[in-house]
Amino acid sequence: MDLFDPIDLGALHLANRVVMAPLTRLRAGDAGVPNALMAEQYAQRASVGLIVSEGVYPGAESRGYYGQPGVITDEQEAGWRLVADAVHDAGGRIVMQLMHAGRVSHPDLSGSDRTLAPSAVAISGAVHTQHGKREHVVPHALTADELVRVRDEFVEAARRALRAGFDGVELHGANGYLLHQFLSPVSNVREDGYGGSAAARARFVIEVAEAVAAEVGGDRVGIRISPMNQAQDVVETDEAETRATYEALLDGLRPLGLAYLSVLHADPAGALVQDLRAHFAGPLVVNSGFGSVTSRAEATGLIERAHADAVAVGRAIIANPDLVDRWRAEAPENAPRPEHFYTAGAEGYTDYPRLSA
Ligand SMILES: Cc1cc2nc3c(=O)[nH]c(=O)nc-3n(C[C@H](O)[C@H](O)[C@H](O)COP(=O)(O)O)c2cc1C
Repeated sequence: MDLFDPIDLGALHLANRVVMAPLTRLRAGDAGVPNALMAEQYAQRASVGLIVSEGVYPGAESRGYYGQPGVITDEQEAGWRLVADAVHDAGGRIVMQLMHAGRVSHPDLSGSDRTLAPSAVAISGAVHTQHGKREHVVPHALTADELVRVRDEFVEAARRALRAGFDGVELHGANGYLLHQFLSPVSNVREDGYGGSAAARARFVIEVAEAVAAEVGGDRVGIRISPMNQAQDVVETDEAETRATYEALLDGLRPLGLAYLSVLHADPAGALVQDLRAHFAGPLVVNSGFGSVTSRAEATGLIERAHADAVAVGRAIIANPDLVDRWRAEAPENAPRPEHFYTAGAEGYTDYPRLSA
């Protein structure tokens, strides 16, 4: 198996196994409306097998960052149409990552007087809002009725994504955001059937995936998880407990025939990820996280040794719009400029040169 071989992830036909990882870039302004610059940025990178969009908020209270795009208004949907069309015109495929920030948000961002979470357990530290740095607040624990509403927001967001021309959606169950907050016993201390045991903690994530799959087809839905990747105070240090939770999750997802499972974990070839892969029994996309920048050698090794079906690549694709060509030719790469990851405008966004230039 070769990194440059095609592969099908459910209904998604990839020309190669390089996946553009979801990458928040905060260039959608106050109203969270995707624009021509964003469309250009994605289209420049369309030679990867699949683009996963940056995390997109599926409900007003789920916005996590100022400048993050949403998919809850007609204007936002029209903006995403620009992006989907540009990527497709360039020969690519794109799915939208649906990201509910949960307690990582702030009332200044959520537009209400609260943030939402499984339980009233606050995240430590501060968040950048349009009004500067603000301390995180104690979140509102979602009621049973509100859980249904949040689930329906994911469904409506997925419907809009496909109507805008996206090839599918990815549920963000990783990195400490709402769905991940349900999975960890540190952020989820509920006692109502959605917490208290491994199976109960997995339940809401499964219900969201079921509902979204029923709307757009399971073969157009992926999910990203990050077991034991300590992020934003979602702590999973007990390996046995973490295994039990994620096994319950993947056992619940397996019947849905999802397009792919994407796992962020420092050791994708190790026992935990490979065991979870067996529970899911579908295509696996991996990424080894923030510790080191994914390299050509790492990605080709993972595919050649069959540790994954595709590899999600983040910072190298930020810096190299033509990364697939460069990796194919074993050509030198541009270095990423992190100081522009989350700033406005084209600098450090659409101005990385191609090899041919
Ligand atoms: C600027 C930036 C933004 C990111 N935004 C997201 C995001 O919106 N959703 C997500 O799941 N991961 C996000 N990540 C994590 C990446 O998808 C990826 O896991 C990480 O960059 C490590 O992979 P790499 O070594 O190939 O860069 C982000 C990473 C970076 C550097």
